[in-house]
Amino acid sequence: MEYRNEEVAKAAESLRRKLQSLEDKRAILRDPALAALYDRIKTLPPGKDRASFGQEVNELKNELQQLARDGQQPAETKLPPIDVTAPFDVNVAPADRPNLLPATEGTIHPLMAELHEVLDIFYRMGFDAVESREIDDDYHMFTSLNFPPDHPARDEYDTFVTDDGLIAPAHTSIMQNRVLKAGEPPIRAVIPGRVFRNEDLDARHEHTFYQLEGIYVDEGINAGHLIATLKTFLETYFGQSLEVKTQPFYFPFTEPSFEFAISCPFCRKKGCHICSYTGWIELLGCGMIHPNVLKEGGVDPVKYSGFAWGMGIDRLVMMKYGIEDVRHFESANLKFLRQFS
Ligand code: DAH
Repeated sequence: MEYRNEEVAKAAESLRRKLQSLEDKRAILRDPALAALYDRIKTLPPGKDRASFGQEVNELKNELQQLARDGQQPAETKLPPIDVTAPFDVNVAPADRPNLLPATEGTIHPLMAELHEVLDIFYRMGFDAVESREIDDDYHMFTSLNFPPDHPARDEYDTFVTDDGLIAPAHTSIMQNRVLKAGEPPIRAVIPGRVFRNEDLDARHEHTFYQLEGIYVDEGINAGHLIATLKTFLETYFGQSLEVKTQPFYFPFTEPSFEFAISCPFCRKKGCHICSYTGWIELLGCGMIHPNVLKEGGVDPVKYSGFAWGMGIDRLVMMKYGIEDVRHFESANLKFLRQFS
């Protein structure tokens, strides 16, 4: 604040200086120098000069009042704004709060970094990506996938269910019906998503993990296309040529159904602890989409055929880096995570 009147300007300067040394900042408002300025007003002849002098004295008082208020605030009342996303109780005293790392020091979780890489390979092969969902209904989890009511195959998927019958999806296949209904063949989609299972937890089983569903529908599609697509993807992801093999399996939503295995990318079939000394690793489930699933998705199974697969992203990443325990991923253990930063 600048004052035009010399007398006010001088007083302002010395009062500001004085304020700094005062413990009780409000005492500045009782300073004789300020009172003297008010007394001076009365001595001036009425007119323009007296009015502007009086105005400046008032402005100086307001300035000092403001400075006193700012300077007097106890430190505790100058809290930073509440961060509702903070991972601690906002009522914890500032000094006791954990220090947050600036966002620039964080890194992408290894599962997400690898998922981007996986999706990138499929984009280059002509697939679109559709996100899965984390709560669903019985129709998408079972009925649309050709699980007959009360069929024992439903028990294979030990899901979490809410009181009103909604389901935390146990697989990304819940999206098949939606993807089939959404477009006309050719349909080429990969569907990443988080899935949930009521598992007994150990180094190979987690209650929460990621899957990537794949679905390809067009005229004249056969199991050869399925095997070639998966082999191409896996060889690109692991950066080496691999042998693949299929074994018959059962899923209600595919016919025929297969378990798909690759030669161990770690030991190249010599046998190691990663492949339990078998040389092979069973990686995913797949098959030719069941005609009932196509029909339920509004696709004519006489004209079109297609393949689908579901693979665990965690499993894939464990294979790539030789990670021995799936529980590391959800552990928030920085020692583990920083190896990937
Ligand atoms: N949904 C199966 C599971 O999580 C995996 C799977 C198998 C997906 C065959 C498919 C498939 O799309 O065709 O166990």
